Amino acid sequence: MNVLVIGNGGREHAIIQALKKSPKVGKIYAMKGNAGIGMDAELVNVDFMDKEAVCAWLKSHTDVGFTVVAPDDPLSIGLVDAIEECGFKAFGPNKAAAIIEASKAFSKNLMKKYSIPTAAYETFDDYEKAKAYVEKCPLPVVLKADGLALGKGVLICKTREEAQKGLAEMMLEAKFGKAGATVVVEEFLEGPEVSVLSFTDGKTIVPMITSCDHKRAKDNDEGLNTGGMGTFSPAPFFGEKSLQEVMKTIMLPTVSAMNAEGRPFKGVLYFGLMKTKDGYKVIEYNSRFGDPETQVVLPMLKTDLMEIFEAVADERLSEVKIEWREGACVCLVLASGGYPEAYEKGKEITIGQLDEDVVLCHAGTAMKDGKLLTAGGRVLGVCARGKDIEDARKKVYANAEKIHFDGMYYRKDIGIKYRDVVKE
Ligand code: AMP
Ligand code: GLY
Repeated sequence: MNVLVIGNGGREHAIIQALKKSPKVGKIYAMKGNAGIGMDAELVNVDFMDKEAVCAWLKSHTDVGFTVVAPDDPLSIGLVDAIEECGFKAFGPNKAAAIIEASKAFSKNLMKKYSIPTAAYETFDDYEKAKAYVEKCPLPVVLKADGLALGKGVLICKTREEAQKGLAEMMLEAKFGKAGATVVVEEFLEGPEVSVLSFTDGKTIVPMITSCDHKRAKDNDEGLNTGGMGTFSPAPFFGEKSLQEVMKTIMLPTVSAMNAEGRPFKGVLYFGLMKTKDGYKVIEYNSRFGDPETQVVLPMLKTDLMEIFEAVADERLSEVKIEWREGACVCLVLASGGYPEAYEKGKEITIGQLDEDVVLCHAGTAMKDGKLLTAGGRVLGVCARGKDIEDARKKVYANAEKIHFDGMYYRKDIGIKYRDVVKE
């Protein structure tokens, strides 16, 4: 079957690389893709935020039997609904379900209503009320823009001055655009973090192998929040005991809650969790594969990804046995100087001879006049599997040195985090 994958980033490149291994998959199209994706799929230059244009393209490409919608933005505007209304099959939640990520106010209220453990919070759409609250609340305090903000709409404020400045930026200066018109002010939690992605068809939920992201721009988790600077899989502190707890208190209750709200979720439901002294709590939900989590999770998948996608779309996920490899995987993001704030694009990328077992996931890259250029903040993910995290880590760093572009920077400590946390 020929497949269309919607999205431009490292996550989509990882999905395409996994689909290429499936005997079920023929030709792969990518809308719009990037330079690396262009080496594995045929690029389609159509704006995927334009639902009519996507449907028109599908109608003129009857060879395509399945569409995978990977990013949050098209999911949140109902691209899956539009594709299905035109009579085509798609993987991903519909608009009603994608709200679990698209609105933090929605997801916080959902967790409160269904007693799913999360940080205590208040929601504000009135600046003066938010300002008065932040004047007295315990510190540190966490401010979250309600809407989608590319993983950057979260501020952890240690002082009242920082909190007031952050509030003003979100609510008065619209630093995160419309996303910050409503703000969630949250209790600060502490503990190791884990990303548990899962496949669900609204009836069955199957967790994927776990992973850990490094969201801050600088080593030792300093600097601004980014979309993610690197990942490793699996999380050493998350074993069978954690899985049982999380399944019972968070995963199954979330699937039931979405069904009870008349918003059955089909696709990848991503649980961003923190292991606190009071048990696991939800930090965030995403309605999709994580980026760069996907780059370490999918290489660990033994089962045919296309088989899983079809089973989710057809609501027969319980029939598929999903299996994972032994060992570990690490992904290191090479970023443009300045990211997650302003950065320059169009820098030439040179890549030396990489080891055979190292995989590059292209994120912000473009091909122009035969030259590979930077075209985004996160440029490349250098990924490798190993017998354990340390083994994979060594391969990734040795190969990152063979890649160059002006202003390139990367964290030196991906995979080190949680080394000393008790294994489970
Ligand atoms: P989010 O986009 O909601 O995942 O937040 C980005 C990052 O901010 C998370 O990965 C956490 O490291 C941190 N964070 C978010 N919420 C909290 C919280 N309530 N307490 C402590 N850290 C948080
Ligand atoms: N890496 C975090 C995310 O995909 O939201």
